[in-house]
Amino acid sequence: MKPSVYPANPNFSSGPCPKRPGWSPAVLTGALVGRSHRSGVAKQRIQEVLEVSRELLNLPNDYRIAITPASDTGAFEMAMWSMLGRCGVDILVWESFGAGWKADVVNQLMLHDVRVLDADYGFLPDLTQVNFSRDVIFTWNGTTSGACLPDGKWIAPDRSGLTFCDATSAAFAMPLPWDRLDVVTYSWQKVLGGEGQHGVLILSPRAAERLETYSPTWPLPKLFRMTKSGKLAEGFFSGETINTPSMLCVEDVLDALRWAESIGGGDALIARSKSNLAVISSWLNDCFWASFLVEDPAIRSSTSVCLKIVDPWFMALTSDKQRTVTKSMCVLLESEGAAYDINGYRDAPPGLRIWAGPTVESADLDALLPWLDWAFDEIKARHI
Ligand SMILES: Cc1ncc(COP(=O)(O)O)c(C=O)c1O
Repeated sequence: MKPSVYPANPNFSSGPCPKRPGWSPAVLTGALVGRSHRSGVAKQRIQEVLEVSRELLNLPNDYRIAITPASDTGAFEMAMWSMLGRCGVDILVWESFGAGWKADVVNQLMLHDVRVLDADYGFLPDLTQVNFSRDVIFTWNGTTSGACLPDGKWIAPDRSGLTFCDATSAAFAMPLPWDRLDVVTYSWQKVLGGEGQHGVLILSPRAAERLETYSPTWPLPKLFRMTKSGKLAEGFFSGETINTPSMLCVEDVLDALRWAESIGGGDALIARSKSNLAVISSWLNDCFWASFLVEDPAIRSSTSVCLKIVDPWFMALTSDKQRTVTKSMCVLLESEGAAYDINGYRDAPPGLRIWAGPTVESADLDALLPWLDWAFDEIKARHI
């Protein structure tokens, strides 16, 4: 039967992700538009973003945090281009974003001493094989497969290489073991539901030391430069962005951060995402046609929840036909106003992907799930 209850907010995209509950454009009213980002008031606002982020993430005092251009990609590229090349690199690849970082390291930076530890969608590579005397690159949460790291116990505390963690769909939704992470990046458009364009780069003291003691052999564009005359450009880590940021985006992310504080801080964000995952889990317990792409609950993401379709009719279809089916489901759900942007990622096995981060209300997931059952039955009936 066609459901009669709609999600109040049908946005379940895995990036840009849904805005926080209660968001409206009115939160931008006080944005310092038309002002210089180097003015005292604007700098204060940027610094507030850094301070509240630091607090919500529970960042150690000696870790540095800065705003970068070009979202998470900008932050991660900046880190790789500035710091890699001193030693060999181990790269963990288990979905498309890790694969993208590997391609950059091998094809663009052209590093030769690279080991790739990989796994299929739905799994993680063998973490015991990582060599921490080398630099190690990984995403914390594979946004396109829904597999995430279980914890940081596999990372050597006394490593000599640096760990580079792309945490864009994990930061603020999953605990991060700071003592095991040297370079961490994320973007505002993900868990916080902020706007695209800006990224955040976090550095451990050892990563900062790498910047001061090592210069790569390749040229670095101005956008990537974090040092001046061999010393860390400390201004960058206290709100002096390299180039002009959007003060609208700054205002917007500050609104999200203040909302996060108002509901109880970092732990509350993590708890909201976990309970969203639990809503989907309990629906799947009685679902005959779908299941988690990631079978092991210990590595199952609570933010980018990926589903595979296990109905025998669907499984007998070719991969192209399967994609047509999931696309038709998504078109139907969108035309009903029940769910937007939940098709699986183009490189992932055909299926659905539902964002369940902390800006999503559990009640909206409750309302969404019967629509998925309905849409699957509808599309199957049309194809049989
Ligand atoms: C794991 C991961 N890394 C990198 C990116 C790229 O992020 P951005 O578009 O913010 O640069 C994404 C976006 O979905 C992602 O999920």
